[in-house]
Amino acid sequence: MVTGASSGLGYEMACQLARHHKANLIIAARREDKLNQLKADLEQQENIQVKVVVADLSVPQDVERLIAECLTGQQLYGAILNAGFTHFGPHAELSEDKFELLMRTNVISVVRITGELVKYFEKSGSEGGIMIVSSMAGIFPVPYQAAYSGTKSFLIGFANALAHEIKSSVLSLTIFAPAGVVTEMTATEKFNGLKGWLMPVTEAAKEGIFALKHRKFNYLPGAVNRFGNIFMKLLPKKLIIGILAKIYQRSLAKVELSKKAKNT
Ligand SMILES: NC(=O)c1ccc[n+]([C@@H]2O[C@H](COP(=O)([O-])OP(=O)(O)OC[C@H]3O[C@@H](n4cnc5c(N)ncnc54)[C@H](OP(=O)(O)O)[C@@H]3O)[C@@H](O)[C@H]2O)c1
Repeated sequence: MVTGASSGLGYEMACQLARHHKANLIIAARREDKLNQLKADLEQQENIQVKVVVADLSVPQDVERLIAECLTGQQLYGAILNAGFTHFGPHAELSEDKFELLMRTNVISVVRITGELVKYFEKSGSEGGIMIVSSMAGIFPVPYQAAYSGTKSFLIGFANALAHEIKSSVLSLTIFAPAGVVTEMTATEKFNGLKGWLMPVTEAAKEGIFALKHRKFNYLPGAVNRFGNIFMKLLPKKLIIGILAKIYQRSLAKVELSKKAKNT
């Protein structure tokens, strides 16, 4: 099962699971047309079966429906909890409503689904893997994505702790934490100043599938990111986050400048 399979990382991981592993899939997101198109393409090209679950994961009833769809009608082997979104801009501009949506989508739905799937795998005793898609922003919080960084840090803390509560030796919990990736999330002009840092989505997805398959615990895609993660941990966090703040500030400032230029 892959959440957020209508675009970006989730879409690409679903394609790679079908192409390279001949996995039957359950794909979930809000955009029904995109999911149905993916189903049609994969069923035709890869000769697999795809179940579509149209669900808004910020809505508790949809989360419950998705869980029920996962646990009935077929055996579940793996789940990639990937759906998520960000607010890129000053925290002061994040409305209370949008913050709540962020928490429901990025955190609450993930905790709920993970909890139910762990129970399912433990009760059935069957082999499985759950992968939670966090972000490097959860390790080194990113200014101007403060609330988003918080949601991703939560996932890292939650999953690292929960993994040690799992009794089944054949169930793994993987935390996948990419840095920037070329997807719809980073397609806005606000990310224009950061484009050089982004990883191709096919590469990030390939590493995600690798992490799930090989039951990695905490996994960062990209050798540079893995090295950077070790190196940056040796430096004061304030320094690292201060540097990130300047990079993100510059990218946002470019958008303001081009807006002003358009208006004059
Ligand atoms: N791109 C990056 O630089 C980057 C870096 C690190 C981590 N990540 C993480 O990677 C994951 C995938 O993001 P992406 O980069 O692939 O972005 P994306 O292309 O925007 O994809 C996000 C996916 O999440 C789904 N989604 C968003 N809100 C949802 C909701 N309320 N209910 C159900 N599905 C929802 C979207 O589907 P619908 O709109 O159809 O619902 C879409 O399929 C996210 O968790 C993100 O935080 C991304």
